[in-house]
Amino acid sequence: MNIVIISGQNHKGSTYLVARELAEKVGGEITEFFLPRDFDEPCIGCWTCFRTELSHCPHYGKLQKLTDTMDRADLIILASPVYVFHATGQMMSFLDHYGTRWMVHRPDERMFHKQGVCISTAAGGGMRSTNQDMYHSLMFWGLPKIYRLGFAVRAAGPKEIPEKIRQKIHRKTDALANKIRRNNPPSAPSLKAKFWFYAVRFAHMHSLNIEPDYSYWEERGWHGKNRPWNTVSAIRD
Ligand SMILES: Cc1cc2nc3c(=O)[nH]c(=O)nc-3n(C[C@H](O)[C@H](O)[C@H](O)COP(=O)(O)O)c2cc1C
Repeated sequence: MNIVIISGQNHKGSTYLVARELAEKVGGEITEFFLPRDFDEPCIGCWTCFRTELSHCPHYGKLQKLTDTMDRADLIILASPVYVFHATGQMMSFLDHYGTRWMVHRPDERMFHKQGVCISTAAGGGMRSTNQDMYHSLMFWGLPKIYRLGFAVRAAGPKEIPEKIRQKIHRKTDALANKIRRNNPPSAPSLKAKFWFYAVRFAHMHSLNIEPDYSYWEERGWHGKNRPWNTVSAIRD
């Protein structure tokens, strides 16, 4: 399986270790990116991606390697420590760059055939909201299977994690790795992805024909009978 880990910190802390443990248990080729080391630009709000396409983003030169790797992956792992109850600023800045790929605009068909995992660790709390920050992007990109793992590690770094919590991490990553292998490749779209797809399609059919989104859907036949989750061609390069 092709696996990509996008880490919301530069260091190999507790969150990275959970992500790496999971990826190794799933097995396959693992590619890692660290933020901000591998992508350090905040979205400047120029709207170029919405008005044209993502490849015209002023940061695309830096973004392309991460984008291409995610597009090729079977499994996308987004991992962030909890910072003030949310994903790190650099993780959110990275995800901001894919607003144009949300279902309400121009989702990429390849995303409808991948699995995703959101992973966070905190000293005590905030994993739910942090995982939700990352989940929103994976869900609106169209991923059919998304899992969440959150651990209150009671630690500032991996060396301090109590043994009992380490054991829990091992158990949960074991179980999730098995599930991911069993579900690969995912066979059906999620209900949420379907709901949003049909909601946007309905809006397009009832005069919300904002360009270039409308033509993008039209070209793919999504206003007709084609569906992104049925597109088997060009899923994997
Ligand atoms: C700026 C900052 C904000 C943090 N905010 C929270 C928080 O809201 N809740 C919490 O329980 N822990 C918080 N922590 C602790 C980290 O989330 C926790 O130590 C985490 O496991 C660190 O992961 P890492 O080793 O991958 O960096 C914060 C730490 C930092 C540096």
